Amino acid sequence: MNDFGPAIGQPVDRVDGRLKVTGGARYSAEVPVANVAHGVLITSAIAAGSIQAMHTDFAAALPGVIAVITPFNAMALSHPPAGNGAGSRNPVTNLSLLQDTDIYYANQPIGIVVAETLEQAQHAARIVRVDYAAARPKIDWKNEKRHAYAPARIMGGPPDYRRGDFDRGSSSAPVHVSQTYSTPYENHNPMEPHATIALWDGSSLTLYDSTQGIFGVKQTLAHVFGLPPDNVRVVCHFLGGGFGCKGSVWSHVPLAAMAAKQVERPVKLVVSRSQMFGPVGFRPRTEQVISLAASTGGALAAVKHDVTSETSVFGEFVEPSAAATRMLYATDNCATSQRLVRLNTGTPTFMRAPGESSGTYAIEAAMDELAYSLGMDPLKLRLANYAEKDPESGKPWSEKSLLMCYLQGAERFGWSRRSVAPRSMHTSDGLLLGWGLATATYPARRSPSSALARVLADGTGYAAAGSQDLGTGTYTIMTQIAADAIGLPVSVVRFDLGDTRLPATPGSGGSQTAASTGSAVFEAGMAVRAKAIAAAVADKQSPLFGLSPDAVGVSAGRMFAKTNPLLAETYGNLLTRQGLPSLEALVTSRPDQEAAQDYSAHSFGAVFVEVSVDPDFGRVQVKRVVGAYDIGRALNAKTATSQLMGGIVWGIGMALLEETVYDPHYARVVNADLAEYLVPVNADVPPIEVVFIEDPDFNFDPLGARGIGEIGITGVVAAIANAVYHATGKRVRDLPITLDKVV
Ligand code: MOS
Repeated sequence: MNDFGPAIGQPVDRVDGRLKVTGGARYSAEVPVANVAHGVLITSAIAAGSIQAMHTDFAAALPGVIAVITPFNAMALSHPPAGNGAGSRNPVTNLSLLQDTDIYYANQPIGIVVAETLEQAQHAARIVRVDYAAARPKIDWKNEKRHAYAPARIMGGPPDYRRGDFDRGSSSAPVHVSQTYSTPYENHNPMEPHATIALWDGSSLTLYDSTQGIFGVKQTLAHVFGLPPDNVRVVCHFLGGGFGCKGSVWSHVPLAAMAAKQVERPVKLVVSRSQMFGPVGFRPRTEQVISLAASTGGALAAVKHDVTSETSVFGEFVEPSAAATRMLYATDNCATSQRLVRLNTGTPTFMRAPGESSGTYAIEAAMDELAYSLGMDPLKLRLANYAEKDPESGKPWSEKSLLMCYLQGAERFGWSRRSVAPRSMHTSDGLLLGWGLATATYPARRSPSSALARVLADGTGYAAAGSQDLGTGTYTIMTQIAADAIGLPVSVVRFDLGDTRLPATPGSGGSQTAASTGSAVFEAGMAVRAKAIAAAVADKQSPLFGLSPDAVGVSAGRMFAKTNPLLAETYGNLLTRQGLPSLEALVTSRPDQEAAQDYSAHSFGAVFVEVSVDPDFGRVQVKRVVGAYDIGRALNAKTATSQLMGGIVWGIGMALLEETVYDPHYARVVNADLAEYLVPVNADVPPIEVVFIEDPDFNFDPLGARGIGEIGITGVVAAIANAVYHATGKRVRDLPITLDKVV
């Protein structure tokens, strides 16, 4: 079952690389559609209240304008059920479908203009005048926090968790740390904004949509328009990033389809950069109180993590920041809680490592504070609390090599040369130097997925699954997996994805695509291989006739007798002789229920960071990063390294730059563009070394691989914060760590 061919794991170049660099890769808004009209959203200028009237006459009379659709003339639509979308962990994402005049947040879609050209639509959208009855928006965190409430459930479980007795464990321990850490609102800002082209053919709807979950879009749109699901086809061949904001269906998708229906023409709707701030989700603000109690030897006696995060007044999303705290360290006494504060913003959503990125910042910064309280090396503190089994479930790990991550990461970084005291290290040009570390972790997820695989009479292979490639390398790893499973070289295998007419797959969220759809592609390929071997050994004209199927191997499309490799024939020969155009297998792969019961599956890593800090101006520069990761098997050494690097770069942004700022009176985002919403540029990114501790996790899936979409951002933020403390002696507990907080 696990006998891999030569391709899996290799640093194969991206199979879609040429298309991307030559402009041949078509993103959703670039799909040529005849007679397409342009839709532009009108969004609300106020954050709370209602619409009294919309004056659309001038806009509607402009040249090229086809329709101005508002709550006063929109067709009736059904609201989608809660938890719509891809990889959904049950958020409630109520959409703005122009069915009423209520306003809950600034930038809420309140209309759509359709015109012959984009410029005509943009101009018309701008001159629609809106009469509002404005209410005072709830945006003041401190004030609204008094009304924090416990959500009914988070991620399918209760909001509060406890094992052992925190109070007893804490009161009997000699060393304590209790601090509050906060993280700001953040927006995803993929390079490619959300975009949809909607086309109707009678009662059949086709959508070219930039989404992390084509099947989620299909189900949701079928519900909204009251259609049988198979009347909706969703296509997404390339994404310019998703990061979670494209994991749910947001308002603009049904609105594009509504507009296309009402004007009886295909409509293209691209969400503008400023409209990316509000209607399509964001990472909610968190305030996290961590209390640690330890023995003088550093053993954690009790751990408490209380999280308050923000949600909207009309929907519910929980940033589960305490989830990692429950499983990260061996301690008998642990308590966590989650509370929500309602504000007049859009509804938050998954953003790369939702929970783990914000949560590992807090717990890993608190662990650093504890290390200083104990006078203990922070790496030794982690080792002293190493969890040999999952302390939350009590189950053994499916595979865990975190110890090697710590040791090899420390070795590569040179951690042993660190002097312990803050402000004790300097660069040659007189800047303060700081070294920090933190643990990275993210759960391994796998869902049922289907896939098909074929061998063709011309000796080539083909595999396909619905799925989507966020830009991370899905096309490439699936081609490698299919090639090895079928028994063909990568160069003659083609892999298709991104169409709901292909076999059903889960959304690309929760870092689950490689394990879910990868396993399906693997099993489909193995099934085709078995079909071909069975056909050969049953065929009197085959040199392999009469052999047991187990006695036949496959290499580069050539089936051979294992005991005598000269007895052989190719797939192409077999199919041509039998007059078959192809052999095909369609499989649905499911996680092994027993293994899921028996093991706890998580990925881990150890991140080491060096920063320099200007002692006069507080300017922080990350100088180098070493990340050592235990992700099971890396399916492609090159794309996996890029994935982890991308996550680390995002960690730099989260630590030092990113923050969505709301106006405290009007609750509008004041930095809703890429000039003022800061993300790392090349000058912010130092040399990054990614190390894999490879230990295939066959308890988790047949590939031995756990997903890597999200773990890269975790741990990095705390490692930087800890390095800033080491450099300066100043503990910043409020992200981002900007120079005003450092000096
Ligand atoms: Mo990821 S935030 O689950 O797309």
